[in-house]
Amino acid sequence: KTIALLTGGTTGEWVISVKSAATIAQNIDTDLYDVYKIMLNDKGWFYEPSDSVKIDIDKNDFSLTLDGRKIKFDGVFIAIHGSPGEDGKLQGYFDMLKIPYTTCDALTSSITMNKGYTKAIVDGIDNLYVAKSIQIFKGGNHNLNQIKQDLKLPYFVKPNSGGSSIGMSKVKHTDDLDVAVEKAFKEDTQVLIEEFVSGREFSIGVYKANGEITVLPTTEVIPANEFFDFEAKYTPGATQEITPGSMSDEEFSRVHQIIKDVYKKLNCRGVVRVDYFLEHETGKFYFIEINTIPGQTATSFIPQQVAAMGISLKEFYTRLMKETLN
Ligand code: DAL
Ligand code: MG
Repeated sequence: KTIALLTGGTTGEWVISVKSAATIAQNIDTDLYDVYKIMLNDKGWFYEPSDSVKIDIDKNDFSLTLDGRKIKFDGVFIAIHGSPGEDGKLQGYFDMLKIPYTTCDALTSSITMNKGYTKAIVDGIDNLYVAKSIQIFKGGNHNLNQIKQDLKLPYFVKPNSGGSSIGMSKVKHTDDLDVAVEKAFKEDTQVLIEEFVSGREFSIGVYKANGEITVLPTTEVIPANEFFDFEAKYTPGATQEITPGSMSDEEFSRVHQIIKDVYKKLNCRGVVRVDYFLEHETGKFYFIEINTIPGQTATSFIPQQVAAMGISLKEFYTRLMKETLN
């Protein structure tokens, strides 16, 4: 089968996308799949067989002409974090071309790219809680002074469709809210101001293959920085990451059920990763967000969790590809 591995993207996360695609290219089973890595960025969509050769993709049918031969793809492995890979745009395009891809569909991808809308949906899931938050819009008539009264400090201020913590701040004094909001609005037209949950932070992958939903071993995240920011995420050693993270048997089975319910309720496909807190005082699980194209870099969680499950990345990617192509 001929597969396009898409990377790049048009957001600040493109660097991460390139690293994720490198892991996938190194580990995908090339006996089963003929893989072409395709770059999508602001300059265009192209295949680069060498440093000096760039071949444009024909967007009419997502094909490639190589040495006079037209190559069409049986499926697409999307490794683009953020837009246009994780937010439904490419999903809609491939749906129209009837080319199968590894990720959630267009609707799920676009909803889950918006942290505020996603929270509204998962709020109804048994045993899962969401931190109190207020969503504001660029140019809207929000009143930050009112928000300072309505929310308890500290808060997280997040670009609503962001990834990798870009544009995000932790605010400990009300005086710092305005600057944090301004910084987040540089990344997005919607901003989420969310109360802090005091708890242990975890992240857990879940995927569907052979019609069955499988939850991966969870990772506990203990950042050395104030929170799990961009630097802590991608600097090896900047964060203590424990896979599998320890939880009591009861917490373990509760969170497994929750994660499966999240996957089903959002109608997910492929591998996704849910970030959550286990609140110190109450033992409640709080939803942080879902990543429908989770990082696959050398320091990302999914490769660590797959290893902890005891299978190779090669086997894992084969499972994802088979589910996509069947
Ligand atoms: N958004 C980054 C890539 C992640 O969730 O892993
Ligand atoms: Mg994210």
